[in-house]
Amino acid sequence: MTILDKGGKMSDRFELLDDSIPIRIQFVCLGNICRSPLAEAILLHLAEIRGVRPRLVVKSAGTSDYHVGEGADPGSVRVAREFGIDLTAHRARQFVPPDFLQFDYILGMDQNNLKRILAVKPPESRVVTGLLLDFAHNTPETDVPDPWGGGHNVFRDVFLTIQRGCEGLLAHLRTTGQIR
Ligand code: 4NP
Repeated sequence: MTILDKGGKMSDRFELLDDSIPIRIQFVCLGNICRSPLAEAILLHLAEIRGVRPRLVVKSAGTSDYHVGEGADPGSVRVAREFGIDLTAHRARQFVPPDFLQFDYILGMDQNNLKRILAVKPPESRVVTGLLLDFAHNTPETDVPDPWGGGHNVFRDVFLTIQRGCEGLLAHLRTTGQIR
């Protein structure tokens, strides 16, 4: 659990954070059409329900350029709609090293994504890097599986897994005093 291991350092930093400065989070997958757009939308949706949306800036990106400029995968759009979330405005973008200057958290959906993120992380960077599911409680899995090409049940499982991660991430932000 790299994130918890960094707890001391993180709380030193967060004590300095002003309540008016948003926490900036980026989710990263391979294509930025299936998993990370769902993570972005689900976290914002949960934050809206809890009244903390103004505290967060949430974006997503893909490690590849395969789908840059495209909308979210129809499987993700459909399952999001089923849960009351509109993903139709999403446009895929590629993760780039300067993202380390734009975010406080950069979280991969799986270990391959995280490897790509860490490969370009500046040694002096204090951005929190890890996996979304590092934050999920009672979840043995580390990776959100790639649902690309899968059926609706696959996308629904992925949605629910991402939701558990986002719930855990919000709980982490609350217990570390970053949101109320
Ligand atoms: P994502 O899913 O990384 O969750 O957006 C994928 C989308 C596209 C591809 C692989 C995974 N692809 O190989 O094109």
